[in-house]
Amino acid sequence: MAGLRRLEYRGYDSAGVAVLADGGLAAARKAGKLVNLEKELAARPLPSGTTGIGHTRWATHGGPTDANAHPHLDNAGQVAVVHNGIIENFAGLRAELAERGHELRSETDTEVVAHLLAEEFSATADLAEAMRLVCRRLEGAFTLVAAHAGEPDVVVGARRNSPLVVGVGEGEAFLASDVAAFIAHTRSAIELGQDQVVELRRDGVTVTGFDGRPAEVRSYHVDWDASAAEKGGYDYFMLKEIAEQPKAVADTLLGRIDASGALTLDEVRIPASELREVDKVVIVACGTAFHAGLIAKYAIEHWTRIPCEVELASEFRYRDPILDSRSLVIAISQSGETMDTLMALRHAREQGSKVLAICNTNGSTIPRESDAVLYTHAGPEVAVASTKAFLTQLVACYLVALYLGQVRGTKWGDEIRAVVRDLAQISGAVERVLETMGPVRELARSLADKDTVLFLGRHVGYPVALEGALKLKELAYMHAEGFAAGELKHGPIALIEEDLPVVVVVPSPRGRSVLHDKIVSNIQEIRARGARTIVIAEEGDETVVPYADHLVRIPVTPVLLSPLVATVPLQVFACELATARGNEVDQPRNLAKSVTVE
Ligand code: F6R
Repeated sequence: MAGLRRLEYRGYDSAGVAVLADGGLAAARKAGKLVNLEKELAARPLPSGTTGIGHTRWATHGGPTDANAHPHLDNAGQVAVVHNGIIENFAGLRAELAERGHELRSETDTEVVAHLLAEEFSATADLAEAMRLVCRRLEGAFTLVAAHAGEPDVVVGARRNSPLVVGVGEGEAFLASDVAAFIAHTRSAIELGQDQVVELRRDGVTVTGFDGRPAEVRSYHVDWDASAAEKGGYDYFMLKEIAEQPKAVADTLLGRIDASGALTLDEVRIPASELREVDKVVIVACGTAFHAGLIAKYAIEHWTRIPCEVELASEFRYRDPILDSRSLVIAISQSGETMDTLMALRHAREQGSKVLAICNTNGSTIPRESDAVLYTHAGPEVAVASTKAFLTQLVACYLVALYLGQVRGTKWGDEIRAVVRDLAQISGAVERVLETMGPVRELARSLADKDTVLFLGRHVGYPVALEGALKLKELAYMHAEGFAAGELKHGPIALIEEDLPVVVVVPSPRGRSVLHDKIVSNIQEIRARGARTIVIAEEGDETVVPYADHLVRIPVTPVLLSPLVATVPLQVFACELATARGNEVDQPRNLAKSVTVE
């Protein structure tokens, strides 16, 4: 149950366990959060055993009911299976099984696997072999974990395009879709490759391909401990993760300048000669990571003069993008498992492009399938809404942009070092923002009964506005939209009405002062139409004061880096508004942390 709780962020609409005990198999399943399963187990305990499987679900096929919750069992109740992903050919398999007399009792795609495993096991009496045979018949993306009463000391797992990691302890072993589930027991892990089956026994772990051939295994040490995934005194993981941002930003910058003063990104194994040839950068990502990409575009184009496109990973491959060996594709993903992003990078590699992953999860699929990876060092992010991962993604993007500038000679060494010095100041600046969030929280609470909040920004403030709106949608379940402030008069200004809260991210008056002046006019325009203006502006910017109903100050920061500080009040704002509306901050409705289906 402790392991499942650690994974609950991935899906939390139902849960279940099965345990091998007394020569048989016993299971319990419950719709709703894990706590419902706990109550069920307290009321009707299962026999105790040391071999078992469990699951928390995010529904794809069939609603979140007891009957659709995993594990799924065969008709004889001998085999239990849990599954993440989607089995695309399940309808055909289901019809086939029904014809052979199997009675399917749920609406899930998963249940067919239990029945197929039962059939193969009765022929082979070997669960791993049964799993290999079944997997060869499945299409789609899946992680499967199964246990059979006929092999009481064995758990078998399989993966295709969906995460699964093995934890190797002393006289014990674990399988989970994320190391967080077993980190309290062991920090020694094995990465499973695509199309592999793993068999866990008391005395060890065996990995083969779906074809039965022994597979090479790569072990690694998990470099964070269980306490990193605990709430540490905060009410919510999100609050803890917001507070961890100064450290996460600093950690992501560690060790990036070598003795000669040059920027080093050792993990980026793409040779400098190839980076010099790059004639286009394409960033693919989803959600918050996509917003990091939108901001990165400004830095990449400004510092390297290479054209940069940013595209939603889910749209990318379907429009037949123009890519070749001179395109550098950057895939940004906290989890490293987002299916849309994975499919986009695979498409890019098929076209001969090099892919660089920016990722927070060591050993996950996206970095493993990329040509190179730059890890963010945010530590485990558990709250569904991304915060510290976003800031560290931005830092990583800035580093990549500078590195490209360095190898291509579009940036001098001292210019690069100056930006890295500015980046090093950000940790302290974020710290200062966090210290002054009291009025933002109060403001958020006062808006709890509003229906709509709009967000406006220009230049790098535009993606910040999009991110502020996304956070509010997913956490507070309010209508929130982000606009480029210049677009206002082309339509959205019609939305402005009396007392409508509008958050405006104001660019620095230094540097691009033209933009600053324009946005100050935009603020006046909306205020004249009744909007309640919530203005986020740099310390010392006095021109906005007369037009701000609420003023949030952020430290003076170089323009391109300003999203690193400007986003933080918006995270706090959304978190507080969600709390005031009685929503579950860490696990918003309908969402899952890691979206491993397309
Ligand atoms: C929003 C959020 C999501 C993720 C998106 C991509 O707060 O967390 O929008 O950013 O699902 O996830 P990763 O970065 O894991 O690929």
